[in-house]
Amino acid sequence: MRLGPFVAAALALGAALPAAAQIRLPAGPGVEQVYARCRTCHDLQYVVDGKGLLPDQWRAVLASMKDYSLTLPEDERERILHYLTTYLGPHPPPAAPADGSETHAADGRAVYQASCAACHGAQGRGQPGFYPPLAGNPDLWKDGRLPILVVLHGLAGPIEVAGARYDSAMPPFGHLSDEQIAAVIGYVRSAWGGAPAGRAPEPITPEAVARQRGRAMTAAEVHAYRAQAQ
Ligand code: HEC
Ligand code: HEC
Repeated sequence: MRLGPFVAAALALGAALPAAAQIRLPAGPGVEQVYARCRTCHDLQYVVDGKGLLPDQWRAVLASMKDYSLTLPEDERERILHYLTTYLGPHPPPAAPADGSETHAADGRAVYQASCAACHGAQGRGQPGFYPPLAGNPDLWKDGRLPILVVLHGLAGPIEVAGARYDSAMPPFGHLSDEQIAAVIGYVRSAWGGAPAGRAPEPITPEAVARQRGRAMTAAEVHAYRAQAQ
């Protein structure tokens, strides 16, 4: 009986986790930067709870994230601030009508430039010590599931790519549609060279993404999966 509240709390937490991973922000310019930059330390619940803050208050929030060691290039900071004050401010514009753009937007290059290039670079070369390269990275071909899991659920923990060590975290991109994720993985696999010799490429389909989406994995669990992927 005395364990009652603990069990209830654990159940509530367990129920809240997948929901938090699926938080969707209102569409608008800059939203991709928020998804990319504001989920490495906490989920987007904090950001959504800030809805209605005044511009100066959002500015102060970003300043305090800096104290927690979030570093942003100036142009990105401005873009994020503009997004937060416009779409999560006291008077947000009405939500844009659904125009099916999610399915139309399954252009891998466009998804890459909007969601991945900030860290992995426009040419997929990454940034030494911080972001691993995707160009010529054999891990993209290791096992059909690995790149899907990384994009859906993120990746956290030490890894080695092309002889260099990285020990950082990539946020999850589960807000992208199955079509967008399949397209962006197809893009990074083909844009800067194809499969390494001897690899029979297994195409990534939206259906394959949908199958992995239901797995409530953490970025650390994807790291453990990566360690044993062939
Ligand atoms: C480097 C880690 C880190 C990153 C990246 C980060 N935050 Fe935070 N954030 C924190 C910490 C730590 C807290 C405080 C958590 C607590 O008090 O429980 C926090 C709390 C918040 C809060 C709650 C109010 C507050 O000020 O405590 C908001 C809103 C917030 N973050 C917004 C953002 C936004 C927007 C971004 C993206 C631009 C972002 N965070 C990125 C670390 C981070
Ligand atoms: C906020 C920066 C950031 C963004 C944006 C980002 N990544 Fe990453 N990515 C990382 C980091 C950091 C790692 C390495 C994580 C670690 O050290 O465990 C990584 C690792 C990866 C890996 C695994 C590489 C390997 O060799 O195992 C893949 C695949 C990947 N990212 C693809 C993508 C794709 C596709 C996108 C866009 C949808 C994207 N990333 C967006 C930071 C980012």
